[in-house]
Amino acid sequence: MKIFIIFSLFGLALGQIHGQPRQQNGDTSCADMPTFMKDTDRIVGGEDAPSPIPWQVAVLSGSFQFCGATVLDAYTILCAAHCQPSTSNSIRVGSKNKKNGGQVRSIAQVIYNNEPGFQYNAGTLNNDFVILKLSDPLELNDNVKAACLPSSDYLGVTSTEERCFTSGWGTLSAGGSSTNVLKFVRVPAITNAQCNNDYGDQITDAMICAGYPGVGGKDACQGDSGGPFVCNDDGKAVLAGVVSWGKGCALPYYPGVYARTTHVLDWIKSKMGETNIISTTAPPPTSGCVAPNWKGDGWCDDQNNNEECEYDGGDCCNNNAAGWNNYCEVCECNDPNAVTPECADKWPSTKCQRKKNKQKCGKWKVKKNCKETCELC
Ligand code: ARG
Repeated sequence: MKIFIIFSLFGLALGQIHGQPRQQNGDTSCADMPTFMKDTDRIVGGEDAPSPIPWQVAVLSGSFQFCGATVLDAYTILCAAHCQPSTSNSIRVGSKNKKNGGQVRSIAQVIYNNEPGFQYNAGTLNNDFVILKLSDPLELNDNVKAACLPSSDYLGVTSTEERCFTSGWGTLSAGGSSTNVLKFVRVPAITNAQCNNDYGDQITDAMICAGYPGVGGKDACQGDSGGPFVCNDDGKAVLAGVVSWGKGCALPYYPGVYARTTHVLDWIKSKMGETNIISTTAPPPTSGCVAPNWKGDGWCDDQNNNEECEYDGGDCCNNNAAGWNNYCEVCECNDPNAVTPECADKWPSTKCQRKKNKQKCGKWKVKKNCKETCELC
């Protein structure tokens, strides 16, 4: 059913640009490994990038850079789910400095993977991926270019690869301060078996580790999350992972852990291009259930998010379901009567009402359990 949504929205978007063929924006070929990454033998233990790393993205909350990410194409960015990016964040690409330069874009849509078995798990950090769709395409040039996607059999769980790099504006040591100038560091990919030795079997097939076992000293660190882990494959910069987690940073027996891109390759490919973007040229209709089948289906649909349609059957308010906002662009809770979960009465509302009638709303137990009835939110 949702596939149908995507195609119909795509049709709509096409209609709105008067049937023009979709245009590829600039150079769509993926990036070569820059010379400075080829030559170096050798974030924590890293060095300043001499020029922008074309696939590196800074994810910003206002002017604060809180995560990294990777350019997949002019409309599509890959980040880590644990970064929890939202449509109120923005991104910067094509700059060494996280505070200025390059191109800045807003985020139109945040897409989590809903496929059973591939959903992000915040407890184990399994499948730590999220895709960001941009409001306007990036201008691809020498400073801004997509990383290459691996083939599905690239660098399996039993393989190693020396020529891999991670990069970002994260802290220079665990708990240390971060940097304004983009840094990169070479960190070889190790096998999952070796990584599991160190991490006591927390490493799943959706993860790939990199570092210098027994040595340490070079690693990603806080603030690098979501950023790229690329390896040199025949001179091409192939995206093998997404900066995800690690114990401390650069510790000898705790390698950096990355989300393994080959694990979700088909999902990544299916979200690329501009097809998932809901056209912003025509606002969605504001009355009635435009798509009655989607009312109350767990996904927030902007078209249904109005009073007549009971705000999409509640799908847009206090929705904790994974991917609840995959199919909306505005994704706002419009229901004036929606109660936030923290605000809901914990006791039955009749009991709360009784307490209220007896003017007991000042008592701490009542305060705690009858926030809604006692109008404390
Ligand atoms: N989770 C951290 C972040 O949110 C960074 C993880 C990378 N850590 C590491 N030791 N490789 O930025």
